[in-house]
Amino acid sequence: MGGIFCSPAGKRQETGKKPGGKQVQMIVCVCNAKNCRTVREVVAQGPHIDTPAAAHRAMGCKPQCGRCLPAIAGLIEEARAENVLVTAMAAAD
Ligand code: FES
Repeated sequence: MGGIFCSPAGKRQETGKKPGGKQVQMIVCVCNAKNCRTVREVVAQGPHIDTPAAAHRAMGCKPQCGRCLPAIAGLIEEARAENVLVTAMAAAD
């Protein structure tokens, strides 16, 4: 049941506020306590990261239960699609 903790940007709220106003990120990998922002940062910094397992390695952990794998795959796909769009727009200039 992947994707329940994190979804592509803009489709669902991924952040919230705790009482007191502190901003929180939605957890994507419960086993390793990794949130959407962490996964996106790792994927953005590692163009070689093309699988959820590679993303876990880059975050210094390993997949355990595997529930997050579809959600992380979605975040990787989303990041790569953004890169393709940015590259295409830069080439069009
Ligand atoms: S939720 Fe990521 S390995 Fe379990």
